[in-house]
Amino acid sequence: MIRKKEFAGIVFLVVICLLLITFCEKDSPSIGNRPISFQAIEIEQSVPEDHISIEEIINAQRAKLLRELQDYNLPNKISLSNLTLDTGGQPIRTVIITTWRSGSTFLGDILNALPGNYYHYEPLLDFGIIQIRGPPYSEPALNVLKSLLNCDYTDLHRYLEFGMSHIYLFTHNQRLWAQCEAYPDYCWEPEFLNNFCKLFPFQSMKTVRLRLKLAEQLLEDEILGVKVILLVRDPRGTLQSRKHRDWCPGEPDCDQPNYLCSDMVSDYSAAIRLSKLYPTRFRAIRYEDLSLNPYKHVQALFDFMGLQVHPAVKEFLDSHTTINVGGVSSTYRDSKIAPFHWRNDLSYSEVRAIEGNCSEAMKLWGYVRTDGSSLKDFYPLTPYDIK
Ligand SMILES: *[C@@H]1O[C@H](CO)[C@@H](O)[C@H](O)[C@H]1NC(C)=O
Ligand SMILES: *[C@@H]1O[C@H](CO)[C@@H](O)[C@H](O)[C@H]1NC(C)=O
Repeated sequence: MIRKKEFAGIVFLVVICLLLITFCEKDSPSIGNRPISFQAIEIEQSVPEDHISIEEIINAQRAKLLRELQDYNLPNKISLSNLTLDTGGQPIRTVIITTWRSGSTFLGDILNALPGNYYHYEPLLDFGIIQIRGPPYSEPALNVLKSLLNCDYTDLHRYLEFGMSHIYLFTHNQRLWAQCEAYPDYCWEPEFLNNFCKLFPFQSMKTVRLRLKLAEQLLEDEILGVKVILLVRDPRGTLQSRKHRDWCPGEPDCDQPNYLCSDMVSDYSAAIRLSKLYPTRFRAIRYEDLSLNPYKHVQALFDFMGLQVHPAVKEFLDSHTTINVGGVSSTYRDSKIAPFHWRNDLSYSEVRAIEGNCSEAMKLWGYVRTDGSSLKDFYPLTPYDIK
């Protein structure tokens, strides 16, 4: 009797197992319905169908870049191989130093419109909503920036781990992201990233967390040869724009005008120092000037980088700053008005609280204080000088 019971038990278990296997098989096609995010599990499970190797992807990208840049005139006596780490050259590297909501998406995208550009977007995202003004964060932050500018992802564990769950770290770098979508297995692998990054002759970076005086440590490195652009914006525009971000309110470095404006004052001193020490490798630009006169300022920025304005960059400006067909509410109008939107959105008392904390910063960077007349017609700009 006991044996019969045991036998029945075993049969029962086998039936359950068979049922489970059947169910699992039926379920498996629906795995493809998971959200398109790069979770660790997904990366482990997906195997590239054609088993393409890193080397093959790199070779294809190298050929693509040669094709894309064959008609682009590089500076005198410089060939593409002088500009890629892949071939023992040094890329033209540009670092935008700014703070949150100061127009850096616009400027970053202008530079990234250049074919052959590799965009290190917000490499200090994982530091949180803080400004880095010195120790203890300055050293780890600068190490990350230097590693990236050298296309060395080998020790960037924290950066890569953060990126896997915050993919916008990479999505803005669309030339890289295209490969991540095609070959998710390789996307966060230093072995792939190091080699891929080294193919690109132009490397741009923007960071909203590092204050300018620390960027001197990047400029000191003659081999890197970075060009640094400080992007400045009217604190009234910056703070108005930040009000509408859910990650900002309650973070002192983000929502307090006195922090923003004392950073603008110290950035101004650093700007004077750097323009003396590195007259050919440092520039400051105001977001308002760039928006009012994008073609002129983009030409000047490309002169500064030693490059011609590529037709793709002109196209980007055309489509982001000029009148659309039939455009009453065109982006052209928007690009001239966007920097001044704060005049419609801030109350007079908000404006006064900002101006009260920011008089020094505003005077240095050429922003006019309101005088009690209508905000809507108020013109906030005067010239500034960092010589
Ligand atoms: C560019 O590279 C070539 C060959 O690698 C080298 O001979 C030449 O000196 C380099 N030119 C510059 C300006 O670095
Ligand atoms: C500075 O800003 C704070 C709000 O963050 C405000 O309470 C204070 O009145 C401002 N200071 C001046 C001098 O306006």
